[in-house]
Amino acid sequence: MSIRKDIIISIEEFKSQTELPDQDADLLSAARENAKKAYAPYSNFQVGAAVLLANGQIITGNNQENAAYPSGLCAERVALFYAQSKYPDVAVKAIAVTAISSKIDISSPIPPCGACRQVLTEYENRHHSPMRVILQGERGSIVTLNSASDLLPLKFDSEFLK
Ligand code: THU
Repeated sequence: MSIRKDIIISIEEFKSQTELPDQDADLLSAARENAKKAYAPYSNFQVGAAVLLANGQIITGNNQENAAYPSGLCAERVALFYAQSKYPDVAVKAIAVTAISSKIDISSPIPPCGACRQVLTEYENRHHSPMRVILQGERGSIVTLNSASDLLPLKFDSEFLK
């Protein structure tokens, strides 16, 4: 006989940036500003990410594409890898992600790809500290989650390597 288990995740939706808590709104603005500097000549999908560290610092990143497509990297990982290489002992409190495009209208929140979700949760585990996630498209509603692990149920983590 099997046992059924349901996983419940909690997300919050805001109609506009003005409804967000100030800290989230500031982080989203930093992500949006940084999306403009993304190197995305192949997709024209410019993603900006901003990371808030426990020491109050904001680190930004954007996607970096490559003619050999898989060699590029998403905005989230550019920001997180830089933040964690420079401040290895400092927890990541929050990450905001947004995107702009000259080709399409991005009106819904940009969800991080699977590989980025794996990386977000790695740093939550590293610092035993939840990472708030703030997602928006170029316009439209904003979705927030209180922990990156809500984006990746049944994740693989360091527990399996012990
Ligand atoms: N991309 C990101 O930077 N973050 C995401 O969460 C989704 C996708 C980038 C990768 C690639 O440069 C472009 O967006 C199109 O997939």
